[in-house]
Amino acid sequence: MPEAVPAGPGSRPGARRPLVSANWKMHHDHIVALHTVRDLGLRLGEPEAAVEVSVHPPFTDLRTVQLLIEGEHLPLALGAQHCHSAEEGAFTGEIAAPMLARLSVRYVIVGHSERRGLFKMDDEQVAATLRAVRRHAMVPILCVGESAIERDAGATEGRLQAQLKVALGALSAKEMASMVIAYEPIWAIGSGRAATHVDASDAAGFIRSLVAAAGGAEAAAGVRIQYGGSVNAENAADFVAEPDIDGLLVGGASLQAAEFAEIIRAVAGCYRSSAS
Ligand code: 13P
Repeated sequence: MPEAVPAGPGSRPGARRPLVSANWKMHHDHIVALHTVRDLGLRLGEPEAAVEVSVHPPFTDLRTVQLLIEGEHLPLALGAQHCHSAEEGAFTGEIAAPMLARLSVRYVIVGHSERRGLFKMDDEQVAATLRAVRRHAMVPILCVGESAIERDAGATEGRLQAQLKVALGALSAKEMASMVIAYEPIWAIGSGRAATHVDASDAAGFIRSLVAAAGGAEAAAGVRIQYGGSVNAENAADFVAEPDIDGLLVGGASLQAAEFAEIIRAVAGCYRSSAS
């Protein structure tokens, strides 16, 4: 893996490799996924290698995308959008972590606000799911973020603190160091109204301070923090130029390979690879 290093004046410093993730939500069947991922793979070259990219298609696409990535050696990590916390059992419609691990899934989104809001996933379920993902040696992308009402009430930090207290309580300091946390303000998701990079940076800094309090300095230095919510090719670089923001979790703008590749390119422009 190439180490990300500062690219010179105007670029952001830091040794954490940026992670840009495509959360396709309930879009693209496995045929469309095949074409989209192949197209994306063709668009990524050496300049983008400083950026790690994960693709999170619907469950029914996972096997197809896994075989494509492995067969064509695409520079992409396979991701899932959710899983249940139990190893197996009578949970109609759910998917277990070991099933994802068998498909070489590397990243699993845990506690996305759509799971929390629409499917009533609570903080304890989020914590149990984090443990399940770790048990099977996958990396969780834990989503946290405030609603518009909480934001207007000045309760953003309180919300983040409450969500992270329970979630981080489920993990060791070492696990925290290797996890990913996505700051996704609910009001910015799918709204076309992204947070400002200053607000996102403040939230990411606050999240890192909470990880430091829970897991110590090494955990805080290692954890990667993404921003998500109406990210596009125009605003992507502004976010990752912030020292506490190590990548992006992208919904709508990740569905088309050309648009998503532009975002990855914008992020890569803030880094350069030290690999020779
Ligand atoms: P949008 O990029 O469509 O706003 O979605 C963000 C998101 O929820 C990613 O998980």
